[in-house]
Amino acid sequence: MKTLYFDHIRCPLHRYTFSLKAIREWAERTCEGRVFNLFAGETKLALDETRNDLNQAMPADHHLDALVFLREWKGEQFNTILLDPPYAYRKSMELYQRMVCSPFRQLKDTIPNCLAPGGLVITFGYHSIVMGRKRGFCLERLALFSHGGAIHDTIASAERFTPP
Ligand SMILES: C[S@@+](CC[C@H](N)C(=O)[O-])C[C@H]1O[C@@H](n2cnc3c(N)ncnc32)[C@H](O)[C@@H]1O
Repeated sequence: MKTLYFDHIRCPLHRYTFSLKAIREWAERTCEGRVFNLFAGETKLALDETRNDLNQAMPADHHLDALVFLREWKGEQFNTILLDPPYAYRKSMELYQRMVCSPFRQLKDTIPNCLAPGGLVITFGYHSIVMGRKRGFCLERLALFSHGGAIHDTIASAERFTPP
């Protein structure tokens, strides 16, 4: 049986997830090696990260649609890919300057091209399994960020790429 690590952390909710110290530090502890931060946003992480955000105003190395970036990347494979997209159309319109997330299923199917075997995909959102076994991933760590009151928790999952 595989061990699943679990963290439960209380913190407020913010549209720029990593501006919250508790979440940023969890991400920094959990990431490994060369990190590709696909929806990078405002906050730089204390990591060896390559940053992408469609919004030109964000501090990033690239400003491409996430799916376009993954499809066009010809560089070295990453050890960790961080996913923190806007999930809902309404949220994109209201909170992220009308930047709409690429089709998420296509994004997930393309990720293995850019990730080294043994690497991690770390996702912030509403699901515990994101990449899943069919794509060759195994859930290794979960965190629940509890925002209190009537606000839903944020689920972070770390899935290890173990292709056959
Ligand atoms: C939930 S925020 C996360 C930001 C970051 N993780 C942080 O904590 O600051 C989503 C980010 O994705 C960017 N974004 C939206 N659609 C995108 C797309 N299609 N490709 C790349 N970035 C996108 C937005 O500009 C926004 O900064």
